[in-house]
Amino acid sequence: MGFLKASLLALVAALLTAPVFSQSEEGTQTITDPSTGIVFQAWNPSPDVTFGLALPSDALTADATEFIGYLSCKKAWCGLSLGGGMVDSLLVLAYPSSSTSGSQEDDNKVLTSFRWASGYTLPTVYTGDARLTKISSRVNSTHFETIFRCVNCLKWVQKGDEGTAGAAPTSEGFLVLGWAHGVSGISGECADEARMGQHEEQGIFGAELDGEVVGRGLYEEWVGRFDTGEEVKGVCGGKPTSTLYTSTVKLPTSSSSLAAPGPTAGVCQKSYTVKAGDYCWLIATENGLTLDGFLGINAGLVCNPLQIGTVVCLKK
Ligand SMILES: *[C@@H]1O[C@H](CO)[C@@H](O)[C@H](O)[C@H]1NC(C)=O
Repeated sequence: MGFLKASLLALVAALLTAPVFSQSEEGTQTITDPSTGIVFQAWNPSPDVTFGLALPSDALTADATEFIGYLSCKKAWCGLSLGGGMVDSLLVLAYPSSSTSGSQEDDNKVLTSFRWASGYTLPTVYTGDARLTKISSRVNSTHFETIFRCVNCLKWVQKGDEGTAGAAPTSEGFLVLGWAHGVSGISGECADEARMGQHEEQGIFGAELDGEVVGRGLYEEWVGRFDTGEEVKGVCGGKPTSTLYTSTVKLPTSSSSLAAPGPTAGVCQKSYTVKAGDYCWLIATENGLTLDGFLGINAGLVCNPLQIGTVVCLKK
C-alpha cells in the first residue's frame, strides 16, 4: 500500500512537470499547461518546435489584438512570425539566457524580443507598441519553453504612419503563421541586441482556429491570474532589464495608472478586503463588474501579485 501510494505520487509528480498533449476527434491538438491549467490549441510545424495559442473569448467574432502563447523549442533559438512570412510581419525571437548564476530562476530564464525585417537580413527591433510578458518559462539541457502574454501582437505598425502595418485577423478563423529555428549559437545577453546566424529550418503553416479550444472563455481569468507583467529582456547596457508593468491588464495610459493603489477621484461607496485565493478578474466578476470597470475604479492596483489585505473598491 505504502509503495503503491508512493509510486502513484511519483507518477502524478512526473505528469505534472510536462505539458499534457491531447488530440480531439476533429484532429485539433491541444496542450494543457500543468501548473496553470491554461489550454492551448497547438501545432508542431517541426519536431523541434511546438507553438500553442489561447485567445480572448470573442476572438472568432472580433479580431483579437493579443494572445497567450506557448513556445517550446530545441536550443539555440526560435522565431515566430505572426504574419507568416519573415518580411514585413511582427516577429518574436526567443532563446534561453546563458546566464550561469546557478539560481533556479536564472536557469529558467527565456529572453524575448520583438523583431522586424524589411528584407531577408538580420531583423532589427520592432518599433511598435507590442508587449510580451512572462507567464512561465523552463529550460533544460536541450530545450526551452515559454508561456507568455503578447499584447498588441496581432496587429502591428512598424515605423508609425509612414511605415508598414499588418494584422493576423482572428475573426477569419484561420491564421497564417511562420516559424524559424536556429541550432547554432545566438550571441548576447540582451534580447534586443542579440545576433544570430541564419536559421537552419523555417516554414509557414496555416493555423485553423478551433473555437472550442482557443476561445473557451477563460482567457481573461488566465491573464488576471497568471500574467506576471514582466518583460524579460536579459542584461542590456550592463544591467538587468526587466520591465514590470504595474497593471497587467492594459498598458498604463496615463500617469494616474502608475499612482499608488487606492481609489482616485470620488468616494468609494463599497470596498472589499482581498483575501487568500482572490484575483482581480474573480473579484470583478463576482461583483458584476468587467475587469476594465474594476480596474477603472481602482487606479494603480497591482493585480500580479494581488496582495492579501489590500482594500479595493467595488462601487464608486
Ligand atoms: C527537455 O525538455 C523537452 C521538452 O520540454 C523534452 O522533450 C526533453 O526530453 C527534455 N530533455 C531533457 C534532457 O530532459
